[in-house]
Amino acid sequence: MSETATESVTGIVRVGYPATLAAELLSGFPRQAELIPLSDAPGPEVDIDVWIPDPYQTRALRTWPRLRGVRLVLALMAGTEWIPRTVGPHVTICNARGAHNISTAEWTVSSILAMLKYFPLYLDIQRTGIWKRRFEATAHYAKITGDARAVYPPVMQEELTGKTVLMVGYGSIGKEIERMLEPFHVDLLRVARTPRTDPVVHAVSELEALLPRAEVIILILPATAESNKLIGAREFSLMRQGALLVNAARGPIVDTEALVDALNTGRVRAALDVTEPEPLPEGHPLWSCPNLLLTPHVGGSSPQFAPRALRTAADELRRYIAGEPLQNVVQAAV
Ligand SMILES: NC(=O)c1ccc[n+]([C@@H]2O[C@H](COP(=O)([O-])OP(=O)(O)OC[C@H]3O[C@@H](n4cnc5c(N)ncnc54)[C@H](OP(=O)(O)O)[C@@H]3O)[C@@H](O)[C@H]2O)c1
Repeated sequence: MSETATESVTGIVRVGYPATLAAELLSGFPRQAELIPLSDAPGPEVDIDVWIPDPYQTRALRTWPRLRGVRLVLALMAGTEWIPRTVGPHVTICNARGAHNISTAEWTVSSILAMLKYFPLYLDIQRTGIWKRRFEATAHYAKITGDARAVYPPVMQEELTGKTVLMVGYGSIGKEIERMLEPFHVDLLRVARTPRTDPVVHAVSELEALLPRAEVIILILPATAESNKLIGAREFSLMRQGALLVNAARGPIVDTEALVDALNTGRVRAALDVTEPEPLPEGHPLWSCPNLLLTPHVGGSSPQFAPRALRTAADELRRYIAGEPLQNVVQAAV
């Protein structure tokens, strides 16, 4: 994440924010900020210096055509891929790096545990009200892992502790996931764009060599041209039988057709918070895939998220006004 110093700003800075946000969330903003609520309904043009877009892209896109003079965008989300192509290259864009860490890392660890503890299967069994159906877990284990030994007592769930976990993306959220995984003593293999040591982070070019080692694969990297369909038919073929793919990042990082195939043939299992396309249309083949836990892009949202994201935006705005380097720049204005 680059840092960009700005010249200090004198006078009032006009900050447009989504009218849907409670005004008290902006109480920590600097005194020089004139706060202007923006609706996404058609209306007159509005002159602002700084834009805080609505976290919902469709609403933000309805607001953007009315805005004039925007020099800085303070996004409340970590994923900002739609913003550069909307506002163009002459606007600096900062994201709310860190604001999603806890909620998204908790979603990731919960979904791993839910899948390894067979919660989706047990929820189905609970709905039938038939205790004996719990033995279906044993058949599920044998089928998904390929471990057909007659294990006694029967397998009713699996353990996360001691498993090999491959994490693709080792940034702000990845580090929080690592922290939350600590009590499980997993063998963590980290992958990022740039390899480094202490701790060891592998280059993404090593992905093919690492995939066969992992029992759980977590995706927590941005959607970019380089990461598009990073996981496709070839990568699924390299995964261990029954590996769990967890996508907490963005749908386009996985080739959906290859994923549907890998799930339907029983090669892998998956937990997805994000899909391609999104929203996932009714009747899409993913909805009915086996061994899949799917949530509709909820990983970042909790009651604690908005206050955290607006504190990050307020800090960045204070730096902008003071002419200090901005911290979470995803695009520097040209
Ligand atoms: N499900 C949700 O609701 C939700 C919520 C928040 C965020 N997200 C997604 O999670 C992503 C990560 O967030 P973050 O805050 O952790 O971002 P971050 O701090 O910027 O970290 C991104 C990590 O991904 C790595 N990376 C980037 N491109 C890569 C590539 N092509 N191959 C391999 N690794 C690559 C980076 O490598 P380097 O370290 O070498 O730069 C870095 O380690 C966001 O971009 C967003 O799409 C989803």
